[in-house]
Amino acid sequence: MTKPIDELIVQDKGLISREIFIDDGLFERELSHVFARAWLWVAHEDQIAKNGDYVVSKMGTDNVIVTRDMEGKVHVLLNTCTHRGMRLCRNDMGNARTFSCPYHGWSYSMDGRIVETPGDLAGVPGHSTYYHGELEKKEWGLVRAPRVKVYKRTVWASWDPDAPDFDDYLGDMKEYLDYALDGRDGSPGNNEMIGGILKWRVPSNWKFAPENFIGDNYHDISHRSVDLVGINPSGGSGRRDDEPDELTTLGFPKLGHGVIGEMPYFKEPEFIPTWSTNPEVAEYYRQCHDRRVERFGDGRRVSMTVGTIFPNMSFHGRQPRTIAVFHPISPTEMEMWRIFLVDRDAPQEVKDMARHYHLSYSGPGGLTESDDMENWSYATDSSRGEISRSIYFNYEMGLGHAREVEHLEGAVENGVFTEENARIFYARWAEFMKADSWNELHPGTGPGPDRAGAEPTPVGEGE
Ligand code: FES
Ligand SMILES: [Fe+2]
Repeated sequence: MTKPIDELIVQDKGLISREIFIDDGLFERELSHVFARAWLWVAHEDQIAKNGDYVVSKMGTDNVIVTRDMEGKVHVLLNTCTHRGMRLCRNDMGNARTFSCPYHGWSYSMDGRIVETPGDLAGVPGHSTYYHGELEKKEWGLVRAPRVKVYKRTVWASWDPDAPDFDDYLGDMKEYLDYALDGRDGSPGNNEMIGGILKWRVPSNWKFAPENFIGDNYHDISHRSVDLVGINPSGGSGRRDDEPDELTTLGFPKLGHGVIGEMPYFKEPEFIPTWSTNPEVAEYYRQCHDRRVERFGDGRRVSMTVGTIFPNMSFHGRQPRTIAVFHPISPTEMEMWRIFLVDRDAPQEVKDMARHYHLSYSGPGGLTESDDMENWSYATDSSRGEISRSIYFNYEMGLGHAREVEHLEGAVENGVFTEENARIFYARWAEFMKADSWNELHPGTGPGPDRAGAEPTPVGEGE
């Protein structure tokens, strides 16, 4: 029997019990109280570009089909036949108007001309004979996520109809997520995926990863070897180009998100020549910079920006420019997904160079990811023992030194080296684990609209 949540997360002392990284009971509660409730990243629009396209994804331990119906709306459907549970779609992705179950042949249509709502049950072998026409097909459609949002070409979903609107869920953290999703010149949603998703099965608790991305600058020593090799876009030493000195960690205690980045509305510095090993690519980024200054004035340079959207999505805003998602499998195992982004309207030369950089940064032959995974895996495994599990991790760096941030609602900052954001992440985790409904988590949240699908976001317009 584990301790109550408030004894596992001792906020005022910066102590966090190792139990939360290895305990089966807490893991089960995470699935129901965190993953069945929060907004989760499920796909990128490039994976479902055409009507009828689908991609299989995950929400917690549930397998889902993310698909675009014949009218272009996006749906997130549980990937299990409602008859007897067969996994309906066993491909990673494809294009289909109908999903037919190989077990007894029930079929589900994505075509609104055939069924009322895409995902409804369309065909049942023997419906008029063996079932005597009595089976109510309308009641046996695929289970759908009631909340789906397409935001700047990324697709998000929540199982909880009462979840707040996605924009409220993001809050002012949006300012930072947008660095990854907008074009380098600031054009909204100007991004595309490079290739597919890289996937790793990691013998680690899933929380180590978003905790790392939310604000752990302290672990840079782990990447010493790759920093010595030097793979940065300017061709110098290190895995990224030098960063300005103004970095800090900003966190949102009421939301659970956080970022290593710059304060908002800092002064736009001179153009720093990144990607300068290729003049054509350097010129592209210079032009982007000029357009960005035209668009925003001198207050929004694309900066380092490494952040986490609670609970399991992280991103890099600049180098690399990437989205990472951490799917729980068991208390001591997760699947890590990573996709890389580049401007959608960039010349091929720019896309090729970005691809090469991303692959050497963290592709299958990449250099950076293995450092982190080794840390998380050993920290998980060495918390399993009877004695080890009874002790606490230390998260007291910078405790009591947070300051409010004037321009961002509900944000605090605490300098570059601090465990403030990790404390914010686990405090939010504790709130989710204790709460019975969204009403307790996001005051003022009422029942949400039951949407049949989300509209795609046109690139360069809208949000
Ligand atoms: S399990 Fe799918 S039709 Fe029976
Ligand atoms: Fe790292």
